[in-house]
Amino acid sequence: MKSQLFDKLSTATHLLLNCENDFFEMKKAIDLMYEIYTSISDIRADDFTQEEIILPTGKAISPGAAAHCLLELQRTAVFLRGIFKAIQDAADKNKKRPITILYAGCGPYATLLTPLLTILPPEQLQVDLLDINEITLESAKKIIAELELGDSVGNFILTDAATYTIPAGTKYDILLSETMQACLDHEPQVAILKNLVPQLSDDAIVIPEAVEIDARLVDPRQEQKHLFYSQTPKPDPERIALGKVLILHKGRLSGGDHDGEVTVPDKIGTCVELKLFTTVRVFGDLQLIENNSSITMAKKYYDFSHHQYARKIRFRYDQTGGPLPKMDCRVIEDNDTAAIFNLEA
Ligand SMILES: C[S@@+](CC[C@H](N)C(=O)[O-])C[C@H]1O[C@@H](n2cnc3c(N)ncnc32)[C@H](O)[C@@H]1O
Repeated sequence: MKSQLFDKLSTATHLLLNCENDFFEMKKAIDLMYEIYTSISDIRADDFTQEEIILPTGKAISPGAAAHCLLELQRTAVFLRGIFKAIQDAADKNKKRPITILYAGCGPYATLLTPLLTILPPEQLQVDLLDINEITLESAKKIIAELELGDSVGNFILTDAATYTIPAGTKYDILLSETMQACLDHEPQVAILKNLVPQLSDDAIVIPEAVEIDARLVDPRQEQKHLFYSQTPKPDPERIALGKVLILHKGRLSGGDHDGEVTVPDKIGTCVELKLFTTVRVFGDLQLIENNSSITMAKKYYDFSHHQYARKIRFRYDQTGGPLPKMDCRVIEDNDTAAIFNLEA
């Protein structure tokens, strides 16, 4: 017999996995999960008293901020659905043993795995939970204990995932980490994957499978108008695609279509803002795009409303330049130079 809390979480998990895009049901499921977790753990999403930890590779957000991630409805739903699908795919290839997962940066509720442990028994799924923050990891321990999920969790690992060495003989089918913000700024997702992915076997699944960043010129007025509710469908706002500037795939970074360089066309009309759009491909066709979550919010980098001063811009992911990793951008050819160059040519 499982506890009432276990049953409640299991009900919420089924609801979240199956409610598709019904936001009312999604919210009901997440609210229920939050109620369960906060009945066990002292860490609340509105708790700003604990500190974040600044690491050489980025910041580990505070326990309260990490708890808050649960409340991003679509993020949590799409990740849980993607992870569930990945486990099923891995299980199809390994029918005789449980699927193993390393969850790097699990947060205070181990949000992206705890729900699945209520619907997949320990014989099917075994997980290790890792976090750099002691308060956070202690909370995750408490959640697992109170929900009677101890048989599904092998180790609680207090360490920096960006430097952690997986013990010899330990094999994970899936590596899971959501330690990122839009444009991969500030948090150490890249460093964590760069460290852990090479320690996995070639057929291991990495979640998210890929993060892609695209540059586009947008018309701010059309974008704003598009966000307002209307009963009749609106045409998509006009945009000018400049190309992919970064791809993070299985821990490898590449500079997109043209090594992170984009060319601003001569005629941009009213599309005067250059923004970067982050897409998180969680697993298979499950993905988060602009406006689905904070980690896929579009970010403005240039404003050409007064003067179209740039012709070529280079975006590079800067892991070492400052205290926190971020997308670095610079104009590598300004428009006036290009005009002179064109005249001379
Ligand atoms: C954005 S929160 C996500 C929490 C939870 N995984 C979720 O998706 O709801 C990131 C978590 O990763 C942890 N973290 C960040 N960098 C880390 C690192 N280098 N090593 C281990 N944990 C890290 C933080 O302490 C925090 O709990």
